[in-house]
Amino acid sequence: MKTSERLDRLPTYLFAEIARKIEEKKAAGVDVISLGIGDPDTPTPEVAIEALAAAAHEPGTHQYPSNRGRPELREAFARFYDRRFGVSLDTDTEIVPALGAKECIFNLNLAFLDPGSVALAADPGYPVYTGGPVLAGAEAELMPLLPERGFAPDFDAVSPDAWERARIMYLNYPNNPTGAVVPDGLFEEAIERAREHDVLVIHDASYTETTFDGYVAPSFLETPGAKEVGVEVFSLSKGYNMTGWRTAAIVGNADALAAYWKLKTNIDSGMFDAVQLAAVAALDDAETPKRMSEIYQRRRDLVVDALREVGVDVTPPKGTIYVWAPVPEGHTSASYCERVLDESGVVVSPGGSYGPNGEGFFRISLTVADERLTEAMERMRSSLGG
Ligand SMILES: Cc1ncc(COP(=O)(O)O)c(C=O)c1O
Repeated sequence: MKTSERLDRLPTYLFAEIARKIEEKKAAGVDVISLGIGDPDTPTPEVAIEALAAAAHEPGTHQYPSNRGRPELREAFARFYDRRFGVSLDTDTEIVPALGAKECIFNLNLAFLDPGSVALAADPGYPVYTGGPVLAGAEAELMPLLPERGFAPDFDAVSPDAWERARIMYLNYPNNPTGAVVPDGLFEEAIERAREHDVLVIHDASYTETTFDGYVAPSFLETPGAKEVGVEVFSLSKGYNMTGWRTAAIVGNADALAAYWKLKTNIDSGMFDAVQLAAVAALDDAETPKRMSEIYQRRRDLVVDALREVGVDVTPPKGTIYVWAPVPEGHTSASYCERVLDESGVVVSPGGSYGPNGEGFFRISLTVADERLTEAMERMRSSLGG
């Protein structure tokens, strides 16, 4: 069977590979603790579950949904953006629901890229920023995120040729995998460059609701001029424990949303109406993300303290559900993660899988219960030199 060249050009998706390794270890009788994938371990808020159950009993929700989304859901996103960020959104033209941020991010590549065009993508970064352009027949130009720049891309380092061919640029703060929050002035600079080079800025806001130490993450759309050149992808997956529900939205520039919607109507048939009504209930619940942030902050402290105890130099992140740490000397990120799995039955993600500038780091996800996290850190001590 001949598969497409574009598929052949892609590496196996990072977490598919991790899942395979976990199964192998489990089959061999190992009690694996997975700190690999960022998948919240606590349940979806009860209000969302109740709203889903009630809506599922209404036969009107059983038919094809509209790809524009129910008015109630678009209004709930508008209410949320107003309450949370002070950003006003037009419910007719500036909000389209998405089946998770991943679907939206991938499809934006198809909507905006042609062979020969470029997506500017953070390195390290969420793998779909680089895999998506390849599947669209285009190219990803990597923008290194370096600790010494606060994990901000250096726009001056992007070549004139890449700027010329760039159609879209991905930004993501709070950032996966580094845990960095948006450096001062970065959104303003991105808007300036986007205007200059006619590039659509796509800000991935998957982690804005999970922050620590009193830090409150902004929306890209709060920055003056953002709506003229950009969109934001907001997801309920992480902040509301709804990864399985596939609930997100793209908001912002109306022309970009119209292009995404046109593409999407040819690809999928929208979000189950009952899930849309559950998302309304979740968005109106301001408490869950706050409560979850407290839980992750406690776990972050637990991990950072354990790493520091054995001499690992780690910066406590102000947001996301990850800790990003350097691998011990003498290891690549892949060899280190393999050693941790073999010696301690703990899965952590190799930084190199998020791009060349992730090499030398590994990522710990905070989405397991405190006791298991404590046990994982205890088991990892020896591989960290403690
Ligand atoms: C930066 C980033 N964007 C998007 C996603 C995907 O989110 P969703 O579950 O909404 O598809 C993830 C998931 O890990 C992520 O880390």
